[in-house]
Amino acid sequence: MTHLECSVCTRKYEAGKVWNLCECGGPFLVRYDLAKLKESWGKEALKGAVTSMWRYSPALPVEHSESIVSLGEGMTPIIEAKRTGARIGAPNLLIKDEGLNPTGSFKARGLSCAVSMCVELGLKRLAIPSAGNAASALAAYSAAAAIEANIFMPQDVPQSNYIECKAYGAKVTLVDGLISDCGRIVAERKQAEGWFEISTLKEPYRIEGKKTMGYEAAEQLGWELPDAIFYPTGGGVGMIGMWKAFAEMEAMGWIGPQRPKMIAVQAEGCQPIVRALNEGAEVSRFWEDATTVAAGLRVPKPLGDRLTLQAVRESGGTAIAVSDQDLVDAGIRLAEEEGIFAAPEGAACVAAAERLVAEGFLKSTDRMLIYNTGSGLKYLEAYSTRFPRNAAEETDKLGGLITPR
Ligand SMILES: Cc1ncc(COP(=O)(O)O)c(C=O)c1O
Ligand SMILES: [Zn+2]
Repeated sequence: MTHLECSVCTRKYEAGKVWNLCECGGPFLVRYDLAKLKESWGKEALKGAVTSMWRYSPALPVEHSESIVSLGEGMTPIIEAKRTGARIGAPNLLIKDEGLNPTGSFKARGLSCAVSMCVELGLKRLAIPSAGNAASALAAYSAAAAIEANIFMPQDVPQSNYIECKAYGAKVTLVDGLISDCGRIVAERKQAEGWFEISTLKEPYRIEGKKTMGYEAAEQLGWELPDAIFYPTGGGVGMIGMWKAFAEMEAMGWIGPQRPKMIAVQAEGCQPIVRALNEGAEVSRFWEDATTVAAGLRVPKPLGDRLTLQAVRESGGTAIAVSDQDLVDAGIRLAEEEGIFAAPEGAACVAAAERLVAEGFLKSTDRMLIYNTGSGLKYLEAYSTRFPRNAAEETDKLGGLITPR
């Protein structure tokens, strides 16, 4: 790592210090000396490397390996979804199953990296606003690092997220509002409490962990990127991270200039990126009354909207919204056909792929890679609406279902 660079005004900041946002309010991107790295590190070095995302550690910000807090995140499988692919007219459909990560979602990658950097920088009290899965991951990695985690999440987060955070010993506050309200509370209280705010893009290192989804896909696919990538986009950090990973790999000569069409998949009840793309805007506007069972997509005004929209546009991709009905249907059909029980966010991508093939935006011969960002097991309230066991009992449990506000 050489320095941090503001993604808006390109101002440079020193590495090895504690930073949140640039003075201009822009999120940071971590920069490396890739020309030097190219000399000392190559694809061949991966042969004997650890089977977690830390196999890419030369392109990650941690300087001292003792700082790394790992629970085995990354190196999730890419599965050929033959039956689902055939049904939706996309026979080359692949699914990267991020549900197999620690805490059941891809958030493990970002928080493994960010908490490792907190260890390296000596930060001991962390706070996070979260839609749910990031909170679970922070709680787990903080427990592993013996660091304090203060968690703020909407009171109607999936029950799994709440129970996990409590079990990992985090300090949990349930907020009557959305992730944006949680963010405001953390921002207001952090100074007085002495918390380091580890919220998405307000600290520079989560994106670095998430970018390993891009490195891994390239490695697992023999350094040939797919024609299209479907990514369930809430904060957009995974999309931004992968886009960055592709540029880094090209700079090191690992891949060529061709890029997949990056497809941002959102929920009908919260689609600020889709609206911004359709309006030709550079940034999104706050999505009022956000509501969806895909809790990770309920981000009404993502901080990284500019970078997400850039990746979508530069790649010739698009953004598409799926209804809750369609994404839950897609999740159940995927489970039946492939044995993959996806989070509603990942399931939304299957519905999106079906539509984009039907509309002719993608060719049926295209190789498509869907990121299933989490396990369906974390969303039992959402899926239990389709499999009620006892009507009265299920209604009680639906207290945890995401409701409009
Ligand atoms: C399962 C799942 N998928 C997708 C997302 C959205 O992630 P990103 O911020 O990278 O867009 C989240 C965020 O909470 C999530 O939990
Ligand atoms: Zn700036």
